[in-house]
Amino acid sequence: MSVRVPAKVNLQLAVGPLRDDGYHDLVNVFHAVSLFDEVRAVPAARLEVSVEPAPYSRVSVEGVPTGADNLAARAATLVAARLGTPPAVALRIRKAIPVAGGMAGGSADAAAALVACARLWDDRESPVLSRDDLLELAADLGSDVPFALLGGTAIGVGRGERLTPALARGTFHWVFATAGGGLSTPAVYAECDRIRAADGRAAPRPRVSEDLMAALATGDAKGLGEALDNDLQPAALALRPSLRRTLAAGRDLGALGSLVSGSGPTCAFLAANDEHAAELAADLDGAGVAASVVRASGPVPGATLV
Ligand code: C5P
Repeated sequence: MSVRVPAKVNLQLAVGPLRDDGYHDLVNVFHAVSLFDEVRAVPAARLEVSVEPAPYSRVSVEGVPTGADNLAARAATLVAARLGTPPAVALRIRKAIPVAGGMAGGSADAAAALVACARLWDDRESPVLSRDDLLELAADLGSDVPFALLGGTAIGVGRGERLTPALARGTFHWVFATAGGGLSTPAVYAECDRIRAADGRAAPRPRVSEDLMAALATGDAKGLGEALDNDLQPAALALRPSLRRTLAAGRDLGALGSLVSGSGPTCAFLAANDEHAAELAADLDGAGVAASVVRASGPVPGATLV
């Protein structure tokens, strides 16, 4: 059982106030792009996880946990518990999504494991677990996991887990600049709170950008580039100042828009079309401002059996 699952970039990440439960209220416009991890679920004596880079990918898998705390392992355990079966599965993960890069790679693997294990253990004719059940389990695993099931382009509210598909026309072409070493998502959120407190600014109530929605609905890459916005970007830049150079290089090289992806440190650049993306990727690579440069397009579907 093999499941392919995409990375995400946040087209808009509006961060509201810190809630009592330690999360922030968000408006999170997710966009799934054609950079895929693959999770294979093979019956085994007990739950096992292995992680390796996908063929031809330059992703470093160092530091990814392979024990029960791996998010994909937790997904398998949840599905097994719901179906009353032992979690006897080996999860073989092949990564092309940067680790701790702000592209929801761990969440993607969890979503893939949910789909693969449900397929492995649930009744094919009359499944116990519906699509909605999987979305609920996904939300228990993490705020970004439901979107990795859904894919496409979607607006997430609450923690980011309550999703509504967004109208998007055509295909958008992206270049991603990865950085050596990841950033911790809780640390970036905490830095965002710290910067706001130091500025004496209350967090605004997050709202969907009308300009962004209009650009998506009409397939207007230039408009989308201008509307990209990430409230976590100042915090990611404070924790990783070298990203300023990366973003500036992309802008100077003619990207239609540039931003830190999620909590970073991967930077995303929007190109006008496929050819422009190829040029931009080569130029960014040459500028020496990234650990690696990859191209991808979106939107693409969420976790899919292959
Ligand atoms: O939901 P997930 O486990 O992926 O979140 C990781 C961390 O990111 C949380 O522990 C929290 O620090 C931060 N977070 C947040 N507000 C959100 C989503 C995540 O503060 N809406």
